[in-house]
Amino acid sequence: MSFFGNLFKKIKFITKGIVALNVLLVSATYGVLCSIYFTIIRKRDLAQWSTARFYYYLFSFIMGMKINVDKPELLEKLPAILISNHQSELDIYMLGRIFPQKCVVTAKKQLKYIPFLGWFMSASGTFFLDRSNRESAIHTLNNALNTLKENKGGLFMFPEGTRSYSSNPILLPFKKGAFHLAVQAQIPIIPIVVSNTSNLYSIKLFNFNSGEINIKVLDPIPTEGLTKDDVPKLTEEVYEKMNNVVKELGMSNIYGEHVSLPENEYTEEGEIELNNESNNVPASSSTDGTLVSESTSLLKN
Ligand SMILES: *[C@@H]1O[C@H](CO)[C@@H](O)[C@H](O)[C@H]1NC(C)=O
Ligand SMILES: *[C@@H]1O[C@H](CO)[C@@H](O)[C@H](O)[C@H]1NC(C)=O
Repeated sequence: MSFFGNLFKKIKFITKGIVALNVLLVSATYGVLCSIYFTIIRKRDLAQWSTARFYYYLFSFIMGMKINVDKPELLEKLPAILISNHQSELDIYMLGRIFPQKCVVTAKKQLKYIPFLGWFMSASGTFFLDRSNRESAIHTLNNALNTLKENKGGLFMFPEGTRSYSSNPILLPFKKGAFHLAVQAQIPIIPIVVSNTSNLYSIKLFNFNSGEINIKVLDPIPTEGLTKDDVPKLTEEVYEKMNNVVKELGMSNIYGEHVSLPENEYTEEGEIELNNESNNVPASSSTDGTLVSESTSLLKN
């Protein structure tokens, strides 16, 4: 790409980044207010859901994005632990779309102190984990599990632990925490797979484009009758399933630049010429599904 092309790309990235940050701030402010409101009317478990949708619609409208969900009804099969692949900052937007009612997230304790976002998370009942303190983390998670089963709610987690930003077209190895929790509570796991969003947003490639993300919700995986000895195998199975769907979904769809609608959409034969660049499935590579064996299990009793 030319010098000016690159410069333009960076300017666009930064400008859209600033706009996106403001959308987040407005939504977090909405979140604080709505958490207070829902706490007063004793429906605090709706606060994160309401804020999530607010953020989703505002961000979609302003940034020209959209998320298509295959089988959204599966997201309502609670109680369950919901897990998804973790790619970039754009995952907050993904959460905005799929977050079910009566669902909560866990977050690093440090996030509590971020203005607006942290206030919102505290006010709306996020479970903050202190990773440096195992005892207190276990205590927090046990509380989360009890609340979740009582309320028939959901707990959302990213089993990759960290944003992948990966240049390999496979998922990072899964940590086992989410799977231990599911087995301990004997509740299902609902895997959620998100198409590769690096063509829409990537801080490495300075991509910030309008377009559509595709999400597929997989059938809930029961854990009834499983014990903690089954956790490694369960983790591996879910990893394999999700990794296959990652490949199947491929890249997200970009609007604009590459698509020439509506005038040039017909070829001479009168057929719609599809932009097939957006549907490239990332080249497959080894998927031996190797998992970190160094178990992160907070919950080994
Ligand atoms: C997503 O796409 C980027 C760019 O093509 C690629 O480098 C990365 O490996 C892909 N990630 C996954 C998980 O497929
Ligand atoms: C679709 O993909 C094929 C192979 O990758 C390519 O040769 C062809 O030009 C593409 N068609 C369009 C319309 O982009």
